Amino acid sequence: MPHVVSVPVLTIDGPSGSGKGTISALVAAHLGWHLLDSGALYRAVGYAAGVAGLDLSDVEAVTRCAEQTKIRFRAAAEADGTRVWVNGHDATDELRTETAGAAASAIASLPTVRQALVQLQLGFRKSPGLVADGRDMGTVIFPDAPFKVFLTASAAERAKRRYKQLKEKGLSVTLGGLQREIEARDSRDASRAVAPLKPAEDALLVDTTGMGIEDVVAKVLSVVQP
Ligand code: DC
Repeated sequence: MPHVVSVPVLTIDGPSGSGKGTISALVAAHLGWHLLDSGALYRAVGYAAGVAGLDLSDVEAVTRCAEQTKIRFRAAAEADGTRVWVNGHDATDELRTETAGAAASAIASLPTVRQALVQLQLGFRKSPGLVADGRDMGTVIFPDAPFKVFLTASAAERAKRRYKQLKEKGLSVTLGGLQREIEARDSRDASRAVAPLKPAEDALLVDTTGMGIEDVVAKVLSVVQP
């Protein structure tokens, strides 16, 4: 039976620090659409694997972990945004750390882990629409999405943004160290065999270097509401 899909999806892909998270949340709120933060799913699985003491290179164990981990997104007070619960524990703060990002990037290179998360992601496509934030939203998960954007920014600019965020949280980091981590993660995400980070052919490329948040939001919204 043909799969009839009519719920619109706006995919927003790009590397870490390109502003995807902030932009996706603002655009989803503006449109009144649902939001899928797919990076949080990979972070949650990496985190759950760490809590269980798994060796991240043990493909079978990590895949089982991806299949069994219970991930819930819960709306919170405005300033807090969405909280992410992993196996009944509010893991939002842990998931934001660089350690969680690195674990997510490592397990995200496993095809069986990606496969285990496909149905969960497709389930977010609900009326009136979905804004899907990630790396492979427009290429693999929602290839038929009518609206696709790929956000980029220079590695230096992305490191600067991340530095500011982490400093505000009182974490001790260096700009140079962050830029090196960002470049290492980019190259791992872009060079992996499955679902590498790359723009869909029909995506609008937006380089956000030097752009303000409002301008990026307006540009992305213009794809949906020309
Ligand atoms: O967007 P983020 O920084 O929260 O993503 C964390 C990691 O998860 C990132 O290094 C790559 C991986 N990821 C992925 O492989 N596919 C996605 N759709 C989203 C994230």
